[in-house]
Amino acid sequence: MPRPIEALIHADALAHNLARARELAAGARVWAVVKADAYGHGIERVFDALRGADGFALLDLAEAERVRRLGWRGPVLLLEGCFDARDLELCSRLNLWHTVHREAQIDWLAAHKTDQPQRVFLKLNSGMNRLGFAPQAFRAAWARLNALPQVDEIALMTHFSDADGPAGVAAQLALFERTTAGLSGERTLANSAALLRHGELAAADWVRPGIMVFGGAPDHPLHSAAHWRLRPTMTLRAQLIGEQTLQAGDTVGYGNTFVAERALRIGVVACGYADGYPRHAASGTPVLVDGVRTRTVGRVSMDMITVDLSAAPQARVGSEVTLWGHGPGDAVLPIDEVAHAAGTVSYELMCALAPRVPVRLA
Ligand SMILES: Cc1ncc(COP(=O)(O)O)c(C=O)c1O
Repeated sequence: MPRPIEALIHADALAHNLARARELAAGARVWAVVKADAYGHGIERVFDALRGADGFALLDLAEAERVRRLGWRGPVLLLEGCFDARDLELCSRLNLWHTVHREAQIDWLAAHKTDQPQRVFLKLNSGMNRLGFAPQAFRAAWARLNALPQVDEIALMTHFSDADGPAGVAAQLALFERTTAGLSGERTLANSAALLRHGELAAADWVRPGIMVFGGAPDHPLHSAAHWRLRPTMTLRAQLIGEQTLQAGDTVGYGNTFVAERALRIGVVACGYADGYPRHAASGTPVLVDGVRTRTVGRVSMDMITVDLSAAPQARVGSEVTLWGHGPGDAVLPIDEVAHAAGTVSYELMCALAPRVPVRLA
């Protein structure tokens, strides 16, 4: 009997969320961003549901190879470009489009021997201060690329730092427009937050939604995934494997962090931080037992968490526990709420799903 825990990937929800991205993209083409093994969902598992995308964007060359091996002949974009001159050979062989964000990547291209000119995405650092050319260096980089026989088309790209927050996109967008004025090439700017909140301004020629395709709201708790009409694409569920009845004053778990104020029945769930459940989720983190919303009590341990069963008096060993995603019937526990209770974001929970958890397509 396998340990009673599994993750489900909801193909229909992936297709629905991608369609939502397309709806907001105002005619722009849509990259499905599938880095980090499709945000923890598994590239091979999501591929069929997302093949309606115009391209796949990711950053690991091995993941790009996997997308090609699945038979995808359309665009594949390396969001961080090449890490080494030798990567250009793979770009040529697999026809990968790649980001150019620093001078050395242009040097590598200039030295690359190929008769197949490559499509590059020249990245402007418009304020995120991670990757990209500074505005004052951008046009010279464009001119250098434009003079290379190894380069076919140059698209223009930037990334917003606070599309989900108060700064929005206006200042970075204005800088991008000023810096790229008069340069030919397609534009790509928007991640999920920019698309959801500023789509009419930021859609451009290509959009790059990631988290919204995977059913997360980039601006939770301001807005929920349901508000944006996104559906959960991942369910993590387990079962109760034990129960305890506490008396007032009894404690639960390591560090005795939870102290019962009254008699309380609790359930023990076959899921812990070694499954990817966030250890920092404090007592009170929402969880569904038999589809009924309740809360965790005590610390998350490696293989178990403990939950308050007051709201689910019928619950017994074997009852279904939804850590996030779809519960029985219509019950849903948004992954964003669990992430928020753990002081993190849904991206991290999805990506942290542990290899020991069996995953299947639902
Ligand atoms: C360059 C770039 N574009 C798009 C995305 C997708 O972002 P999100 O998942 O917030 O939509 C990312 C993710 O971090 C990224 O780095």
